[in-house]
Amino acid sequence: MTRFILNDTLVESTASPGTVVLDIVRYHQQLKGTKIGCREGDCGACTVLVGELNQERVEYKSMTSCLLALANVEGKHVVTVEGLNMEGLSPVQQAMVHASGTQCGFCTPGFVVSLSGCCLSREKITEELAVRAIDGNICRCTGYKSIERAAASVAQQLAQKNTEEPITWSVEKGFLPAYFAGIKERLKTIQGGTEATIDPAILVAGGTDLYVQKHDSMHHAVVRPLANDASLKGIRFEHGECIIGGACTAADLLNSVELNDHLPKLEQHLLLVSSTPIRNMGTLAGNFVNASPIGDLTAMFIALDSTITLSGPAIPGQARNDRSIKLRDLFKGYKQLDKSPDELVTSLRFTLPGKNTRFNFEKVSKRTHLDIASVNTAIRLELDGDTIREAHVSAGGVAPIPKYLAHTSVFLAGKPASPETVHAAIKVMNDEIAPISDARGTADYKRLLLRQLFFAHFLALFPERFTLKELVA
Ligand SMILES: Cc1cc2nc3c(=O)[nH]c(=O)nc-3n(C[C@H](O)[C@H](O)[C@H](O)COP(=O)(O)OP(=O)(O)OC[C@H]3O[C@@H](n4cnc5c(N)ncnc54)[C@H](O)[C@@H]3O)c2cc1C
Ligand code: FES
Ligand code: FES
Repeated sequence: MTRFILNDTLVESTASPGTVVLDIVRYHQQLKGTKIGCREGDCGACTVLVGELNQERVEYKSMTSCLLALANVEGKHVVTVEGLNMEGLSPVQQAMVHASGTQCGFCTPGFVVSLSGCCLSREKITEELAVRAIDGNICRCTGYKSIERAAASVAQQLAQKNTEEPITWSVEKGFLPAYFAGIKERLKTIQGGTEATIDPAILVAGGTDLYVQKHDSMHHAVVRPLANDASLKGIRFEHGECIIGGACTAADLLNSVELNDHLPKLEQHLLLVSSTPIRNMGTLAGNFVNASPIGDLTAMFIALDSTITLSGPAIPGQARNDRSIKLRDLFKGYKQLDKSPDELVTSLRFTLPGKNTRFNFEKVSKRTHLDIASVNTAIRLELDGDTIREAHVSAGGVAPIPKYLAHTSVFLAGKPASPETVHAAIKVMNDEIAPISDARGTADYKRLLLRQLFFAHFLALFPERFTLKELVA
């Protein structure tokens, strides 16, 4: 049985743990405000807020309920648009009306839920952050300018929000219904209910790949939820290394102040990955094990020269069977991994960048947001004065696997950071990639893209040294 609070009501569901929350909400609980658009995480019509008890706080995140396994909301608070309703319209709903942010209304519950997340967050909400909160919501008829005006109005109204106690403040000011104030204590009474794992089970982390790829079979599959497994979470810094739990999400990386201090452009890079609700769900390990040749997190962490730890199944009375490999060595062929089905990716580690390290990520996709890459690439350079001492370059979309550009990396080591080096490295790079023509572009186009992105790396890494004209001359 899965226990969670849905809006103001405790639900004890005996549905299959692989059922998506969207179906629980609409068909088991008859709450039809949450809409079905794409069932693939693309449109945001099914967005819900999921609140998780973290010590003495309930932290809420927007998620697409069409990809959210019931098992992953065990012990949590799920908020649909009905759970935001009060006597009159809430200030967020009112802002959508005033700004003419709705026409047919199909997308509106999703926008209202995403924007209401701003009331619950501990961040000081700016207009930019309010617009970012709806980056996973698509509207086919209103036009985004009016919805952006509604978001700006919400940000203005939340200007005085108490960021230490956002829930209390939002309830007092009439942004949220009164029952939110009691959710923390109610959640405490339903913790620790996860049932023992049944082997063999499908490992479900965020579900953002699994539920797109195997939509129908997942609903009745035996699943092992990883989203609640504390041993797979957390970002630590030890002995000059960063260690990240396999079930950390892209949002966890984005929200880690210390990690962003070490990788100052990480936020900019991560905002190119999917959308807010998908970043709130999709995990590092899911990105690696899904083995997509264009996984963005995979490209970033290959270039960071990361090592992953894989853990075999626990045998009673024996230590876990752990082993570590370079992330780049995980990929053996198209969707073939150096990993048995029952091995868990428990963590990833990489050496922290020093003052002579430079790191960059580039991606081209058909749309800036909410789109997978045609080609992506990342690079880490260790410099010794003007010389590249060590290099690690990755590229996606140019081979059957996320590609570590081993020859290019070796070639760059020991060379001066100069336009000549960049041009010569591109020749080496061209010999070690094998793009194919597909829906994302022809093989020639992808070669061209990677060349341009390689230039972009050096322009981003050495703004003081290169101009575009000098580099491409
Ligand atoms: C709308 C949308 C947009 C997207 N945009 C992007 C994008 O811009 N860039 C991008 O790179 N990806 C994108 N994705 C893909 C996806 O979100 C990412 O690949 C994500 O990181 C997958 O993680 P997950 O936790 O959801 O994986 P899941 O779907 O839970 O799992 C994927 C696979 O990994 C396995 N697995 C999960 N965790 C572990 C573990 N700890 N150990 C062993 N096996 C494990 C699962 O069994 C499964 O086989 C997008 C997806 C959607 C739906
Ligand atoms: S139905 Fe489109 S994101 Fe869920
Ligand atoms: S108002 Fe019609 S889809 Fe947005």
